[in-house]
Amino acid sequence: MSRTWWQRGVIYQIYPRSFQDSNGDGIGDLAGIERRLDDVQALGVDAIWLSPIFPSPMADFGYDVADYRGIHPDFGTLEDFDRLLAATHARGLKLLLDFVPNHSSSAHPWFVESRASRDNPRRDWYLWRDAAADGGPPNNWISDFGGSAWEWDATTGQYYYHAFLKEQPDLNWRNPEVRAEMIDTLRFWLARGVDGFRIDVLWHIIKSADFPDNPANPDYRPGMAEMFKVLQHHSTDQPDVHAIAAEMRALADGFGTTPGRERVLIGEIYLPVERLMQYYGREAPGVHLPFNFQLIDAQWNARVLADLIATYEAALPAGAWPNWVLGNHDRPRVAARLGEAQARVAAMLLLTLRGTPTLYYGDELGIADVPIPPDQVQDPRELREPGLGLGRDPVRTPMPWDDTGNAGFSTGTPWLPLNPDWRTRNVAGMRQDPVSILSLHRALLTVRHAHDALSIGAIARIADDGPVLRYERSHQRERLQMLLNLGDAPYAAEAAPGRVLLSTLADAPRTIGATVTLRPNEGLIVEIAP
Ligand code: NOJ
Repeated sequence: MSRTWWQRGVIYQIYPRSFQDSNGDGIGDLAGIERRLDDVQALGVDAIWLSPIFPSPMADFGYDVADYRGIHPDFGTLEDFDRLLAATHARGLKLLLDFVPNHSSSAHPWFVESRASRDNPRRDWYLWRDAAADGGPPNNWISDFGGSAWEWDATTGQYYYHAFLKEQPDLNWRNPEVRAEMIDTLRFWLARGVDGFRIDVLWHIIKSADFPDNPANPDYRPGMAEMFKVLQHHSTDQPDVHAIAAEMRALADGFGTTPGRERVLIGEIYLPVERLMQYYGREAPGVHLPFNFQLIDAQWNARVLADLIATYEAALPAGAWPNWVLGNHDRPRVAARLGEAQARVAAMLLLTLRGTPTLYYGDELGIADVPIPPDQVQDPRELREPGLGLGRDPVRTPMPWDDTGNAGFSTGTPWLPLNPDWRTRNVAGMRQDPVSILSLHRALLTVRHAHDALSIGAIARIADDGPVLRYERSHQRERLQMLLNLGDAPYAAEAAPGRVLLSTLADAPRTIGATVTLRPNEGLIVEIAP
């Protein structure tokens, strides 16, 4: 079985505002990304996923789309996009876009029409409801960004629903015209040559048709985000979502019939494993990869992780391909959660598990969450519910490329501050340092690509031994063993004897026997002796 590129490959998430600015406005752009493709290729990833680049008022930094078929001038033009896509493909890399189907921007012409009058032909493209008897919102649904999810519209005397900001009204996916238009948007980009999509909040796009109140969450405590006051039983994860995912899948598969040109759909879904698995498809195939975010929230403990990996593997439907994520533009960075020493071990885990890994830009440098001075906060989530640690600016800061002005990111003032240690923590410097976390990522990616056991092989013997997490990967005659010390003390672990292919630390032994003393925060990839 040769497997598709997206099964073998590693995906690299780029936050376009923060990757590389080419015109000095302090905001990254498409021409900047194109300039950095050699660096991306040198890292050794296979595909880039770009967070939204479409025209947008940027109320939620591009997740509020005002035109699904254009490019925001901050990022460039459609011509710039076509050039970037061609340059990406010329290097043998793939390019994925971010599709935001749940909601548009309130500035989208569709919503401008929809809110113009109750009898506007686009009225039903969004979710309009009468007020409750007391004049309040139609139900108790809470926006993920805090406050009621309903916004009163005085002109037409109804409320509209927004799962996120009021500037992000939810589209009505039960309306066949909406559905046809959005599917056609996918077709537009697929025909242009993109290799797939990450689909924003896929589990949100269909809500219960009669909008009942959500139940209260018994586990809610003050200090949590307001959205957790209720359980999203009726506002998300409704059975009808699966037919929509299947329609998207059929379209993508229809474009991707040539080997090497398969298209991939990745669904953003935050749900418990058993519900997540449904998104591989029920009656018909769903998305290729429902994002598996478990490593982001997991307690970092060998027993917990061994159990989590085994449970996830066991839950996969027949033929489903796994995937793993350590970080993204919404969640604290891995180096902030675990510290840099353990982030190296986490990188070895991400890049040796079975399934497609997604690596978040900057994590290969071990950047921690960057403190944002109060007067520089940009993220609407932080501005709406300040002080709860929900803000996402700290994980979206500019990529530090070198030790010249603004770390080589921009000749202007960067839209967010750089990581304070950018003079030493940057690509150019760390590339020269063979023991840097960047060099470790490159080595891990090289090893992964060189060994089918890692890129497409089976996984077995997932176990914990004190602080050590252990598992094997195999393909045909090749057998590799991973030994990951999640603790910060040395530990003598049981092992299968063999040759060490890679350590997270310098000066590793060349071979190991039936026990090996792992150093604090040491991970090993061992080729098991035949
Ligand atoms: C999930 C995205 O990842 C996040 O950044 C965004 O704010 C929400 N969806 C709304 O689109």
